[in-house]
Amino acid sequence: MSYSALRPLLFSLPEEVAHDFSLNSLRFLERAGLGRLAASPVQDAPVEVMGLRFPNPVGLAAGLDKDARYVNALAALGFGFIEVGTVTPVAQPGNPKPRMFRLPKHEALINRMGFNNDGVTSLVQRVQTTRYSGVLGINIGKNKTTPEERALDDYVTCLRAVYPHASYIAVNISSPNTPGLRNLQAEDQLKALLEGLTREHGKLRDEYGQHRPLAVKIAPDMSEETAAATARILLDFAVDGVIVTNTTIARDAVAEDKNGGEAGGLSGQPLRDAADRVLAVVSDTVGQRMAKIGVGGIMSGEDAQRKIRLGADLVQIYTGFIYRGPKLIADAVKSIDGLARNRGEAVQNPASSSTD
Ligand code: FNR
Repeated sequence: MSYSALRPLLFSLPEEVAHDFSLNSLRFLERAGLGRLAASPVQDAPVEVMGLRFPNPVGLAAGLDKDARYVNALAALGFGFIEVGTVTPVAQPGNPKPRMFRLPKHEALINRMGFNNDGVTSLVQRVQTTRYSGVLGINIGKNKTTPEERALDDYVTCLRAVYPHASYIAVNISSPNTPGLRNLQAEDQLKALLEGLTREHGKLRDEYGQHRPLAVKIAPDMSEETAAATARILLDFAVDGVIVTNTTIARDAVAEDKNGGEAGGLSGQPLRDAADRVLAVVSDTVGQRMAKIGVGGIMSGEDAQRKIRLGADLVQIYTGFIYRGPKLIADAVKSIDGLARNRGEAVQNPASSSTD
C-alpha cells in the first residue's frame, strides 16, 4: 500500500498515536523481513563528510527516534544516516500530552515534546544491540531539572557515555522546549560550553584512539549577524560540523491555523525559508572548513537540492517524512545526485554547460 493511501488513516489518529503506530508497524515489517514493502528504492549516492562515508547524503533528523528503538527499521527505508536522540543523562517524561500538533494545510508540525526519553544508559544499551552498521549520529542535550549554569555537566555526561557508540555526536543547544536551552547559543555561554565540551572531546579521542566528529545544532531564530558570529565561534573551537536548523518559535506563517497558537517549535514547509537563510549565512562564513548539515522544511527533492546549493554537505528530514512518506528519501537523493552530476559535467566541460 502506498504512503499516500495510508496517510488519511494515520492523520485520523492523534499525532503521537500515529507516530508510535507507524514506527511500530515499520519495525514489525522489518523484523519479518518485509522492510522493503514500506521502502522506495533509493539509489547509491555515496559522499564523504566529516571523515565518514555516507551511502547517500539524506539523513533522518533528530527527535523521531529519541531512544534508538527503530534504527534498523528506519535504516531499511534507505536513509543515508540516522540521528537518534535528543538524549539526556537521566530519563525524563517530557511535557504533558498533547504536545505534538499537525497543521496539514501548511504541511507543518508544532511540537513541545520536551526531550521525553529513557536516558543515555538505555539508549547506549539499545544502540549496542542494533544490527545497523551505517552512520549513526547521537544527539545529546540536558535534563530539564539541571540548572542552566550546570548544563555543561549534562552534555559531558552524555558525550562520555555515547562517544564509543556514535559515528558523530550532535550537540543540541537549539530546542525551544527545554527552558533556557537556547540561551546556550549566546556568545559567552556558547564559548564556555564549547571550551568544556571540546576539552572533553579531545580526552575521549585520546582515550579511544579515534576521532568521532562533533556537530552543533543551531536554531533558525537568529539574525544574519548572529548566525555569522555563531558560525565563527564554532570555527574557533574547530567543531567538525554544524546542523542548521532546529524548529522555529516564529508563527507568522501559520497564525490563522487552528493549531498555529500552540507553544513549541514549528517545523516543515513554513520553516524552510528561515532555515535556508541561516544555512546560507553559515555556509558563507565557514566555507569548506566545517561540514554543514541542512535541515528544516525539506518537503521535496528540490527543497533538498536547494540546501546543497546553499552549501550543505548533507541534509536531514523529519516533517517532510511525515507528510510525504519514505518516497521523499529517494526523491531527495535523486535530486541531489542530479545536481552533483551537473556540477561534475560543468567542471569537465564548462563551455557546454554555459550555453544550455
Ligand atoms: C524535532 N526536532 C528535534 N531536534 C533535536 O535536535 N532534538 C529533538 O529531540 C527533536 N525533537 C523533535 C520532535 C518533533 C516532533 C519534531 C517535529 C522535531 C527537530 C528536527 O530534528 C528538525 O531539526 C526540525 O523538525 C526541522 O526539520 P523538518 O521537520 O522541517 O524537516
